[in-house]
Amino acid sequence: MTLLDVRDLTVSYRSGGREVPAVRGVDLSLAPGDTLGLAGESGSGKSTMALALLRLLPATARISGQVLFQGEDLLTAKWSKLRAVRWAGASVVFQGAMSALNPVRTIGDQLTEPILLHEKVDERTARQRAARLLEDVGLPARRLSSYPHEFSGGQRQRIMIAMALACRPDLVIADEPTTALDVMVQAQILQLLTDLVRERGIAVVMISHDLSVLAQTCDRLAVMYAGRMVELGASTEVFADPKHPYTSALARAFPTIGDAASRRAPAGLPGDPPTPSSVGEGCAFAPRCAHAVDACRSTATELWPAGPGRLSACIRVLPDLAPAGTADRTGTTGSAPATSGSGAAAMEGGAS
Ligand SMILES: Nc1ncnc2c1ncn2[C@@H]1O[C@H](COP(=O)(O)OP(=O)(O)OP(=O)(O)O)[C@@H](O)[C@H]1O
Ligand SMILES: [Mg+2]
Repeated sequence: MTLLDVRDLTVSYRSGGREVPAVRGVDLSLAPGDTLGLAGESGSGKSTMALALLRLLPATARISGQVLFQGEDLLTAKWSKLRAVRWAGASVVFQGAMSALNPVRTIGDQLTEPILLHEKVDERTARQRAARLLEDVGLPARRLSSYPHEFSGGQRQRIMIAMALACRPDLVIADEPTTALDVMVQAQILQLLTDLVRERGIAVVMISHDLSVLAQTCDRLAVMYAGRMVELGASTEVFADPKHPYTSALARAFPTIGDAASRRAPAGLPGDPPTPSSVGEGCAFAPRCAHAVDACRSTATELWPAGPGRLSACIRVLPDLAPAGTADRTGTTGSAPATSGSGAAAMEGGAS
């Protein structure tokens, strides 16, 4: 059975009188309980794709394709259906826990609110569930009466996880849930999130720039570049034996966690990501790729089979087109693209 079936998902933003493409023709399928890691440089379209699934993007975003969630297309679903699916069907954990929590309401009130909104339970039952959720994420139930500012960053992120699980969803989308935290806390929180979803059989789409973290926590890995999915497969295989040169560059990268500059371009990868409007039909990675040949620029990009359960958008997986291998080019870290992920901001006030 399929939980989520995304077909040809395409998103562009209207900006300065132009359409700026952000996600280009993404196909994706998740079964119940699947854990999928989504990696890629800043600006590659990860947040846009994830937020488009629940129509959480700003009004300037134009979305096309299909997002079949339990068989129903969320892109054309009525508002009432969409509201019912958010929280109870699919929920989101954002990076900015402080901005996503209401500073003037207790954690208890904020945890019980979605439960009371989505389920026919009384206040007492909702409060008991909230207490259990808090304990599940490693915080004592008495902290229900505390306000967000009384918690550390890591504790607030735990609370965000509790909120995402509050209505027992079938899918959790976690958009860089730990980026602002220190390394030790990052590892704990990701482990906690993964343990909780696995225990409950919840599917997860976990977004990170860090391929190694995703490979450790998710069963499958998807890699995005310039709005397109360029590689998909079992985590251990994708990480150990990438089928796309961009994935190889990500796998080699050792980003300094928490350092914005190192998040933007993987170490050892020369050049900058393309500006969204400069990407054509051919491989967008070709200008930075050590293996690029003319056919890369003239062949329309697709995800081709690249072994059992594997897909890659690199023409080298096509036996007829594969050029002779060339040695990997080494280079310096590319400078930062002039983009900023703004998907999380779009969620403000829209998560119910
Ligand atoms: N609200 C917006 N208006 C216009 N363009 C946007 C908006 N939000 C994102 N974009 C553009 O869409 C593209 C994809 O951005 P997105 O935030 O999805 O990337 P990302 O992979 O999540 O990056 P990051 O790792 O920095 O979070 C970028 O070129 C970005 O500048
Ligand atoms: Mg993002």
